[in-house]
Amino acid sequence: MKNQRILIFDTTLRDGEQCPGASMNLRQKLEVARQLARLKVDVIEAGFPVISEGDFAAVNAIAKEIKGPMIAGLARCTPKDIDAAGAALKPAGKRARIHVFLATSKIHREFKLGKAQDEILRLAVEGVTRARGYVENVEFSPEDASRTEPEFLIEVCKAVVKAGATTVNIPDTVGWAVPDQFAALIAQLHAAVPEFQSGQAIISVHCHNDLGLAVANSLAAIRAGARQVECTINGIGERAGNASLEEIVMALKTRADFFAGYTVGVNTREIVKTSRLVARMSGLMVQRNKAIVGENAFAHSAGIHQDGILKKRETYEIMDPMEVGWGQTELPLTKHSGRAAVSARLKHLGFKMSDADINSLFQRFKEIGDRKKFVYDEDLIALVEGHIAEVPETWSLEYLHVTTGNATMPTATVRLRKPGAKGKVEQFQDAAIGDGPVDAALKAIDRITKTGGTLMDYNLRAVSQGKDAVGEVTVKVDFGDKKVITGKGASTDIIEASARAYLNAVNRFLCQDSHRQRESSQP
Ligand code: KIV
Ligand code: ZN
Repeated sequence: MKNQRILIFDTTLRDGEQCPGASMNLRQKLEVARQLARLKVDVIEAGFPVISEGDFAAVNAIAKEIKGPMIAGLARCTPKDIDAAGAALKPAGKRARIHVFLATSKIHREFKLGKAQDEILRLAVEGVTRARGYVENVEFSPEDASRTEPEFLIEVCKAVVKAGATTVNIPDTVGWAVPDQFAALIAQLHAAVPEFQSGQAIISVHCHNDLGLAVANSLAAIRAGARQVECTINGIGERAGNASLEEIVMALKTRADFFAGYTVGVNTREIVKTSRLVARMSGLMVQRNKAIVGENAFAHSAGIHQDGILKKRETYEIMDPMEVGWGQTELPLTKHSGRAAVSARLKHLGFKMSDADINSLFQRFKEIGDRKKFVYDEDLIALVEGHIAEVPETWSLEYLHVTTGNATMPTATVRLRKPGAKGKVEQFQDAAIGDGPVDAALKAIDRITKTGGTLMDYNLRAVSQGKDAVGEVTVKVDFGDKKVITGKGASTDIIEASARAYLNAVNRFLCQDSHRQRESSQP
């Protein structure tokens, strides 16, 4: 069979970022985009430019900076959306792609859009035509395609291809499909549209994981004629998520005997690094037993397995862990390491930092170095990511004192700083008791900031080995009105890490709130 190149379209920064609490700021999105470029994905869907100023700015910055992959921006079939996507993507030049979507299924037509088939067809064609006015590379998605009448879907595919769409994406929007049926649908579309056979346009698939079938459906679709798969790192995304990039790529590679002739351009050795970066930036931790990137993915605990592995690795391992980037450890830094060594290691880890960033990180590095013997790459990454996650600091931690024990009421005293009038810094101090030292510290913060969040989720992780490891805390805080915000903090002291994470969420909330107030006061 002749070689078929499968394009990997990564939508971590769009569909992935859409899940509650996973939102990232501009710097975080840029770091993820840089890493996706190192991973060598073919397309990065950078966001939905019309949705907010922040999304527009992120797509625009990624289009400006990232070289290599194609950069896509999402748009509904409306002039306002398409114009915003065209403007945001302009710096990417020939590598820009506008991704236009419009629902086609009966249930969406009747209940969501209130539009008949002929109107949907007209809007789809108008949308693609308008997008072609900005870029040569236009993708069209008939949303909820897997529940659309196949005859109508064929009509839509033919019409949008004729209008200039170069990719037609078939989304399984609600994770309804099952592999054999989905493959049959893709084969039917492939056979019905001459441009799919000539290669003038390609079929893409975009599968959601509501029944846990997103990867299986994507793989079945490839064998039926799809030439692009849309997926996310760690499978993050709306509801149960999207198809996981690492699982699709490694299934194609590991089972090349079955998927003969299908190739991808991904540099698999970057997979684990990308997975960790996305987990930290999005605050969505990876389950331990997750395929390819979970902590246990290559851990063998049964004696019989360990014995087999020692005799011949392939007895119990179908992939080489090094192939996906496990086990790339470097010599740790210590408190004696200088600024140049820290800066060189950050560069080696792929972070692009200004002198001002390095100065502030070096300060934190010294604090950590004083508290622990070795500073591992993971410790350093946690510091950088904490730094990147920072938003303009309305409130910052000045002092924290906690008394706790098995026979005492946990009490925390907290002092916070806040910029006041005329460049002056104001200080506020308060104390609280709680169910534990973390609870007490967060209550004291609440008493000062008066933002009144409810802690929804709390996750503590040791980022490196040893009892003195840096603890990284991720919190999800509900500020009401559907505003669930993720915050992160790192320290060798877990109560301090918790207070920093909570303050990070508070600052993010205040930042979004002032942004929204600015937006709503505009005409
Ligand atoms: O799931 C979906 O249908 C989407 C489209 C916008 C492609 O995300
Ligand atoms: Zn989706």
